[in-house]
Parts: sequence; structure tokens; C-alpha cells
Amino acid sequence: MLSTGRVYRAGLLALAISALSAQAQVPRLPTDNSLLVPNEYLITFTGEPGTSEGIAAANDFFASLKTKKIPYTIYENYTTLLNGAYIGVEDKYYDAVHSISTAASISASRLSITDDSPPINDKSTANPPLPMLADEYTGVNLVRNSTKWDGTNVKVGIIDSGIDYNHPAFGSCYKTKDCRIQYGYNYVSDTGRTDPLDTCNGHGTHVAGILAGNHGVFKGVAPNATLGIYRAVGCDNKGSVQHLAKAAEQAYKDGMQVVNISFGSPGGWSDWVMSTLVDKLRAHQIHVVTGAGNNGMDGLWTVVSPAVSRYSIAVGSMEVPKIYSLYMNVTVGGKTIPVRRSEQQTTIPLINLKDAPFTRGLSSAGDDYGCSPIANDVKGAVVLIQRQYCSLTTKAANVYNAGGAALAVYNTDSSDMGVIIFEYEVNLPSFTIFQNDGQALVALLDANKDATVTVDHSVFVFDNQFATAPAFYSSWGPNPEGPIKPDLLAPGSYIYSSLPLNQGSYGLMSGTSMAAPYVAGLVALLIQSGATFDDNNLMSNVIHTATPAKNAAGQFYSVAQQGTGLVNAYNALTANLAFRTRYNLPTYYDDFSYSTYPFAIYYENHGTGVANYKFAAKTCLSVSGVGTDTIMATPPLTSTAGASVSFSTTSLSTKAGSNGNFQVTITNSKLDRKAFLIYSGYIQAYAASGSTGYTYSFPYMGYAYDSSSISVLDKSLYGLPCMVRQSEYQCLDPSASHKFTFTGRDFPVILLRFQAPVAQMMIKVAYAATPTKNHASVEDYFFSLQSRTMDSTGYQYVEKVWDGMSHATSTPQNVYMMPKGKYVLRFQIQPVRTNNKIQYYTSPTIEIGS
Ligand SMILES: *[C@@H]1O[C@H](CO)[C@@H](O)[C@H](O)[C@H]1NC(C)=O
Ligand SMILES: *[C@@H]1O[C@H](CO)[C@@H](O)[C@H](O)[C@H]1NC(C)=O
Ligand SMILES: *[C@@H]1O[C@H](CO)[C@@H](O)[C@H](O)[C@H]1NC(C)=O
Ligand SMILES: *[C@@H]1O[C@H](CO)[C@@H](O)[C@H](O)[C@H]1NC(C)=O
Ligand SMILES: *[C@@H]1O[C@H](CO)[C@@H](O)[C@H](O)[C@H]1NC(C)=O
Repeated sequence: MLSTGRVYRAGLLALAISALSAQAQVPRLPTDNSLLVPNEYLITFTGEPGTSEGIAAANDFFASLKTKKIPYTIYENYTTLLNGAYIGVEDKYYDAVHSISTAASISASRLSITDDSPPINDKSTANPPLPMLADEYTGVNLVRNSTKWDGTNVKVGIIDSGIDYNHPAFGSCYKTKDCRIQYGYNYVSDTGRTDPLDTCNGHGTHVAGILAGNHGVFKGVAPNATLGIYRAVGCDNKGSVQHLAKAAEQAYKDGMQVVNISFGSPGGWSDWVMSTLVDKLRAHQIHVVTGAGNNGMDGLWTVVSPAVSRYSIAVGSMEVPKIYSLYMNVTVGGKTIPVRRSEQQTTIPLINLKDAPFTRGLSSAGDDYGCSPIANDVKGAVVLIQRQYCSLTTKAANVYNAGGAALAVYNTDSSDMGVIIFEYEVNLPSFTIFQNDGQALVALLDANKDATVTVDHSVFVFDNQFATAPAFYSSWGPNPEGPIKPDLLAPGSYIYSSLPLNQGSYGLMSGTSMAAPYVAGLVALLIQSGATFDDNNLMSNVIHTATPAKNAAGQFYSVAQQGTGLVNAYNALTANLAFRTRYNLPTYYDDFSYSTYPFAIYYENHGTGVANYKFAAKTCLSVSGVGTDTIMATPPLTSTAGASVSFSTTSLSTKAGSNGNFQVTITNSKLDRKAFLIYSGYIQAYAASGSTGYTYSFPYMGYAYDSSSISVLDKSLYGLPCMVRQSEYQCLDPSASHKFTFTGRDFPVILLRFQAPVAQMMIKVAYAATPTKNHASVEDYFFSLQSRTMDSTGYQYVEKVWDGMSHATSTPQNVYMMPKGKYVLRFQIQPVRTNNKIQYYTSPTIEIGS
């Protein structure tokens, strides 16, 4: 049977490494595409839950399965937000199930992960509570100092890995009288409990602390909110859609007003069932705050589902000026330099390094890149190596083989390298060092003989050299279907918060998971303040009072990367003006024809006096995900070219309680269409001179291309697209004919990568002799994506294994092995942002013999 998501990790890595030419260009390969659960599906039926039409549709669906003689098991019924069921049914019946008319949607069961990648958990241990440094930069401290809002009587639902409810930050209680955790349930069987106690994972406890913790100087954004804790993510960090949907239904039944959703599947589309759940919650006036995802290293269009939902508030991660980090002190020549621990390693005890020597690792040629064996004596030492020229894994392996105790990598340029990821496991602690600190250490080490390190489990406050930049891992938008995502950013790196008591009570974690609860907490405060008039204004206050960030050259980062920038809790809570478009959605459009794009921005004055405002347009860097030589650009390429903006009026004077609108017209006259740019910017309203008031930013975004004019297939460094043998993973000669036995691991696998989102892909079988004709005599169609996505596993690599079968579209009986002969697989790929123009890829010849 067709396999849509297996792990061929070792094989793929071999391919990657053999083709590797420069470290900077190694894209991340799928690390765990076992996220698809075989033989289980979430089906939604036509009709609304609880209505007679909906119930009839459900009955009809199961009657049809019986008629078609398709065996099934019902694991879960959904009758509140969704009209649906979670069923067990063999994958081979997929098409047959799909063809039942009362099935509105059929979603493969996809496991979601709380903190996809990089899993950055630099947990410290045994810390007393400390204040959250990020609060200084988000307006949260100001809210705390000068308002009374603390989330009292607002119900916030958290769907995550549970919580350690014995933690003092949540009152060390669960559902007892006056306890802040008043609701909760556990859907995952691994703890054998019905309550959501989490002592094995920690993610949910950390995010709950950011949102609503309260213990001495440690305070979350809404420290007195009432909590509903729905445990749908297990100790293994994975959550099944079966439980996530159930948890969302329960949060709704319990009357939660804000739901912070921790699940995400990469490469999401807004019609995935997770996104549908968000839309349903929102339709019931429940705000849903989601993390944008941690796939920013894969470039554009990496916001996860359900964050891609138009109705979620999708939060990316921004760096802030001061950070806590685990660290070691390096003392050399009488000087002590603190060095950050790299972020993602959690398990290797720091204590082993106590009083270790610190030394440079040099090759026999005298360089310090660590790409060849280390020639000097580094036994038991922390070894200083420079970045570049080979993979971090190679460097780590060389240090490990020379007997080094830890790797410390200093940067070759001024970019951040807070995270060290080894492509395969090397059991070595690692540290990352900014370029200037690294160069200072090299000079000191060269001038002095002995250097030692001291380490303990405390944290140190570092100046973050990347302050106010979007975090490199924060997923890029936009939504592949067009709308602006992420909506805004909040601090997400090195966030100090609560952990289960058995994990040390407090510690640091990084990811957009840490950014989302800031905003969820803010939404709770806004609800409590009652100052938000209606739901749409609440969303618009959160989004439009944020502060767009600029790079060192003074250019605004793309809206596709930062939305409207860093959340400002104080301004959102005290804003007098609300801005929005008619449909309350930030504006985007397809710019196929160099025309002008007019839209209206509506405003309402909720203050007590006249507001005098001026308008200005700000241009962001334009970005492109399509690189030179049709290799996908990660990170995206940038250009300072943008659109021009004109206003029907450049100033506004509005009385208390009044409203109105003004017209904005965007004109793209200059952009080179071949560069496939996404341009963006802000319409800003700022207080006229002599007046006071906040600055409001309203984002716009345009697509200055038609993707039918680009090759959507990335011709990457690895020689993709290509066909490999499942057992070998080397690209096969495209001009030769390749025989497969279709047994064991001897199946053909097609590897592809897309540079732009693909709306649909179909795969047909054709005779090799007439490759452009689909096979005529048998049912030829064997796979079509059930939804629009880059790949059914959600990753940017697509790998399709062909089992040599012909797959029927409607009846399982028509699935059979193709007869002896020579075939090709023909991929019909339809990118988004085209006028339905199909692109093709034809595989090398596949021979089925005996
Ligand atoms: C789901 O609903 C069907 C039909 O009402 C019922 O037969 C079945 O027992 C239910 N299953 C579960 C797991 O609730
Ligand atoms: C809030 O109050 C604390 C304690 O008085 C003070 O240290 C901090 O600077 C204040 N922050 C703001 C943003 O006003
Ligand atoms: C916290 O919330 C509870 C209601 O859940 C309320 O009774 C209590 O007064 C609040 N505490 C503070 C300090 O506002
Ligand atoms: C590292 O050095 C700083 C002073 O430079 C000191 O405050 C801190 O305690 C030292 N940390 C360790 C673990 O020795
Ligand atoms: C909030 O949602 C984000 C992502 O959607 C998640 O990673 C985080 O764990 C959630 N926080 C809480 C408190 O549930």
C-alpha cells in the first residue's frame, strides 16, 4: 500500500551528507514524519452538530460503510463543535470513504507536537522564582504597575501537556474551592489518570506559568485568571487529533473565554480539521491564540495549522534585549567571560564540566574549524571551535573522538547561533558564543596558558545581541492561501517560567509556544477590562497596537515574518481607537496585473475626547522564497523594492464615540515580477503634533507574481526531484530504466521539494513508452492529496513510495498490482496563485518484472 509518511531518516541523511557542499545551505530534513497515524481518520459529516440534518448525515455515513462492506471502529463521536467521528478504518479504503457524500471532510490522523523544532529546552534546576525579563518589553510590567487588570474571573483554557498543579505558581491545588484551576481533564492514557497532572513533560506547566503563574516575584501576564487545563499532549510531546478535538469541545462546554492551543502541524492549511476547530470556537465568541510554529528555518509558508486559521491570533517569537541563559564562566588570564549554553540540550549534566580546562581545538594544519581531526591535546576539556566549513555534527564528532568534554562554537559572523543542532546524536554538551566573545577568547587563550570553566545550575542575564529581531526559528507566513500570518510577535526565546517540581520548578524554554501565552494572557486582561466593545475590536486592538520591528539598517522586517510586530499589552488595553477593514481581516491581495488595490480602513473612537491623527505609509522588506537556480530560498531573499501607497485623506480628527473610514490605494509599479516578491508594509496612524495617542499599524501584503511562471519544483542541491530505491536513498539515473521487486525495501520512492505552496498534487501511472498519456486501460489514479498542502506529512520534502499497485477511486476491489511492464509516475502539480496551470514531473522508468 502507498505509504505517505514513513521515516527514512538514516537514508535521507546519507543522501544529504554525501551531497553536502556548504553547511549554510543544508535545509532541514523531515525529522519525524511518523506523525501520520495509519488506519485512523477524523471524519466530519455534513450538517451542523446536534441538528436533525447532522444526525441523519452521520447515520447515512455509517450505513454507507456497511453497504460498501468496509469494516470500521468508532473511537470517538463529536457532537458539539464538530459533527463528526474519529474512526479506525484501513487506509486502503480511503478513496471509498472519501466518495461517501455525507462525509464533509476526511482527515488523516496527524499527531501534533507542542514544540516542533528546534526543541529548545534549556531547563535549569532548583531556581527560586525570578521575574520574567520579557515583561519589561511587552508592556506587561506597565500593566502590572499601573492598572488593576489581572485576569480575575476570566476563564482561560489551555490545551497542552497538562500541568503540575502542585506547583505554588498555581496555588498547589486542583479544582478545590478557590483554586485557580477549576476545570480540566486528561485525554491521554499514558499517565493513567483522569486529571491533567503533568510531571513528565513540562511544556504545559511552562506555558501556563507565562500566561497565569503567580509565585512571589514570578508572575504571568494574567496572574489571577481561572484555568481550565485540558491534557491532550502526552509525555512524548505528541497529541492525537482524536483527543485535541475532544479537548476543544470540552473547553467550549466549560465556558472558556480564551483558549490557548498548543497543537500544531507544520505546513498547515486553513481547511485542516484543526483549523476548522479554531474557526468553530471563534464562531462561539471564544478567542483562540496559537503559536505560529518553530519552522522558520524552512523559510516562507511555514506557519502551522491551526495558527493558519484566519480566525486565530497567530503569534510568532521575537527576541528581547535581556535574556536569562544557563552558562559557564571561562576564566583566562585573570578575566572571566560568561558563555551561553546552547539552547536545545537538556539531558547532559553540566556538573560534569566543573573545573574542566578550556582550550582551543586545532587541526594539524593549525585551523580551529574542527572539520578534521583535532591534533592538540583536548582530553577532558571544553573545546573552542569556530563555526563554518563543515557541519556541527562533524565538529562535535571530532571533539568527541579527541576526548573533549564539551564543544563551544563561536560564530564566524554576527548572526545568532543560540542553538546547536546535531544532525545525528553526538553525546556532547555544547555552548554557543557570539563572534566578538569568541574572538576575545581566542586572543586570551593564545596569550595565556591555563583557562578553566566554572558551571553551576544558575542562570545569568545576558545582553541579547539580536534584541528586537524576529527569532530565527519563528515560522514565516503568509497563510499559503493568502492571508497575513503571523498576526504579531511576542517574546519567545529564553523565557523563564514554571516547570514541574520534579524538573526543578523553574527553567528556560524557547519557541513560539512561549510567545503565544503572552498574548493569550493579554486577551484575558482585555476581556476582564471589558473595554473591548466587541470581539472584532479586541482582535484589532491586540494586532494594531503592536510595534513593527526594524533591522539594524532601519528596514522593517516583512509582514510575512512579523505581522504587526511586538505585542504592546499596555497600549492594547488602553487604546482608544480601533481600526479594521470591513471584514476585520488585515488586507492582502493577488497582484497579477500591476493594477492598483484600493481598500477602506474603518475606525471608531472609543475614547472620551477628540482624537487627532495623521497617516503615513511604511514599506517593509519584500521577500521571495524562490532562489536563484530554482533552489528554494531559506531564509527568504529580500528586496527593498515595495509598493506605493496613497490615502484619500492624510489626517483624521474624530470626536468621542464617532466612527468613519478612509480609503487607501496600493500601487505596485516597480516590482520585477520575475523575482516573485511578496511585498508588504503598514498604514500607520499616529498622533498629530500637539496631540497624544498611540501609534496604530495596519498591515497590507501583496503577491507580485503568478506562480505558473515559476517552476514550483525545487531543483535542489541534492539533485531533487529524483527517484531513489527505498533501500538505498541515492538518486537513480533519470535516463535509465530501473527494476524493482516491490518486496522488502525494494520500492521506488520519489523525492520532491516545492518552492511555493501547492494546492493539489495528483499522481498517475503511465506506460513508459507514452509518458505523457495517463495509463488508459486500468484505474490509473493512485493518490491525491486530500487537502491542499505542501505535503501530506506537512514537511517541505515530499516523498512518495509507490507500491506498484493501481488504486481505484471509489471501490476497494479495484486495487491491484500492475502487470509486468515499464511505467512512469507522472506528477501533476498545481501551485497556488496561478490560474489553475498544472506543472508536471515524470519519474524515471520503473520496471515491474518477474
Ligand atoms: C458513537 O455514536 C454511535 C451512534 O450513536 C454509537 O453507536 C457509538 O457507541 C458511539 N461511540 C462512542 C465511542 O461514543
Ligand atoms: C514596575 O515596577 C517595578 C517595581 O517598582 C519597577 O522596577 C519597574 O521598572 C516598573 N516597570 C514599569 C514598566 O513601570
Ligand atoms: C482572584 O480571583 C478570585 C476569583 O477567582 C477573586 O475572588 C479574588 O479576589 C481575586 N484576587 C485578586 C487579588 O484580585
Ligand atoms: C560567573 O562570573 C560572575 C561574575 O563575572 C559571577 O557573578 C557568577 O557567580 C559566576 N558564575 C559561576 C557559575 O561561577
Ligand atoms: C499556547 O499555544 C501555543 C501554540 O499554539 C503552545 O505552544 C503553548 O503551549 C500554549 N500555551 C498554553 C499555556 O497552553
